[in-house]
Amino acid sequence: MTNQASTTIKFQSGEQIPVELHKVRIVQKLFLKPIDERMEAIEKGGYNTFLLNTKDIFLDMLTDSGTNAMSDNQVASMLQADDAYAGSQSFYRMEKALRDVFGKQYVLPVHQGRAAENIISQVFIKEGDVIPMNYHFTTTKEHMELNGGKVLEIYTDEALKIKSDVPFKGNIDLDKLKGVFEEYGKEHVAFVRMEASTNLIGGQPFSMRNLREVKKIADANDTMVVLDASLIGENAYFIKKREEEYKNASIKDILLEMCGYADMVYFSSRKVSSTRGGGIVIDSHDLFLKMRDLLVLFEGFLTYGGMSVREIEAMAVGINETCDDTVISQSPSFIEYAVNSLDAEGVPVITPAGALGCHVDAKGFLPHVPQTEYPAGALAAALFIISGIRGMERGTISSVRDENGEDILADVELLRLAFPRRVFTLSQTMFMIDRLKWLYKNRELVGGLKWVEEPALLRFFMGRLTSTNDWPQKLIAKFKEDFGDSL
Ligand code: F0G
Repeated sequence: MTNQASTTIKFQSGEQIPVELHKVRIVQKLFLKPIDERMEAIEKGGYNTFLLNTKDIFLDMLTDSGTNAMSDNQVASMLQADDAYAGSQSFYRMEKALRDVFGKQYVLPVHQGRAAENIISQVFIKEGDVIPMNYHFTTTKEHMELNGGKVLEIYTDEALKIKSDVPFKGNIDLDKLKGVFEEYGKEHVAFVRMEASTNLIGGQPFSMRNLREVKKIADANDTMVVLDASLIGENAYFIKKREEEYKNASIKDILLEMCGYADMVYFSSRKVSSTRGGGIVIDSHDLFLKMRDLLVLFEGFLTYGGMSVREIEAMAVGINETCDDTVISQSPSFIEYAVNSLDAEGVPVITPAGALGCHVDAKGFLPHVPQTEYPAGALAAALFIISGIRGMERGTISSVRDENGEDILADVELLRLAFPRRVFTLSQTMFMIDRLKWLYKNRELVGGLKWVEEPALLRFFMGRLTSTNDWPQKLIAKFKEDFGDSL
């Protein structure tokens, strides 16, 4: 059967509509609770969408991590799982699949992406090292800093612009990368990290050309390139769509070429292969030996790495499905539809549409809420109240405080509405678009947030906040006025 290059199809009207190229055979019931109950739920959850209970949520757009729909073949594969502490056949099947897709010999399984970051940071970062990268990810940065490293983000001028038509905002600035080696000396650069479909700047990809050049610069300085491949499938899809040279290439060949420019590839399987887990893949036996013992210490034996054998089987199938155009284009197609529909109505969203989710610019949406009152967090809470949709704050709450206790204001304040693969339908997507448009029209009713309980580490996960005044009550009153008894 031939693959569709994209799940977006032209309708009679000329409109491009994303169509679900799969059928739904197992379903899970959802509830859209009345607005007063949603309000109670967000208050109980300290205005932090991480602390909500899924029984109170209608559309869970918090993340695509561990929430992609599994395929029939993935679920079927779990039945052949081979339970064994060591030497499980399930591991060898997964190892073969990862070798095929990533083109690297050695596979170190870990229980999820941040476990790979822990091991890589412990082994390769020493006190005072710098790690240049296209952009940080929250857990990545914490692990690197815990090991004495300093993260240097050397993105291009376009990267943080909300509205743009630059196809590869995830590119690293090559001149600045050369400058890092000149300034710090190659012996103080632990490695260069490239993150596929750069998460925190809106799922924005880098180009193959950029990665190729990064590899040349790193090689000239005897330094490793480490590729975070958690969202590599989507990055490959954008290379195919946006980089002329690759328009006829298969996703599989693009993935192999990308990994060929990296000395080490690590990933969260919760994203890339639609099951729990993660891994590190390398070609060098020397690198393998350096990490092997820590893996056994932190994760488990080399043939399971903290994963269940069922997950390992599903990963083997899932990673191959990531090479399928239909599978990999589904989420970006729906995101593109949402982003373009919202952008057309003037709702500030990151353009061009990227991977992982639709990213709403909270600073543009709520210009009257200062960053010290967390506009992205406030927007996430407001959207939940008026729709039951759970998004994720990716702004100053996800940042940290400086040595004087002041918030380090995030470069961008985003509300991320994730589209896990093959989970949401078009009418659910339309509901999301409709409620966001309504909220934008009534944006002056949304106010800020303040801390009630602020954890010292990764505060966005468990922190509790409250509204700065009674803005949620005013928002609810307006909602009832406009929608009456409707949910
Ligand atoms: N790297 C990237 C680019 C990620 O997006 C994530 C996780 C990780 C590493 C860590 O992997 O969660 O398996 O330990 N991103 C999730 C998200 C949490 O919601 O974007 P993990």
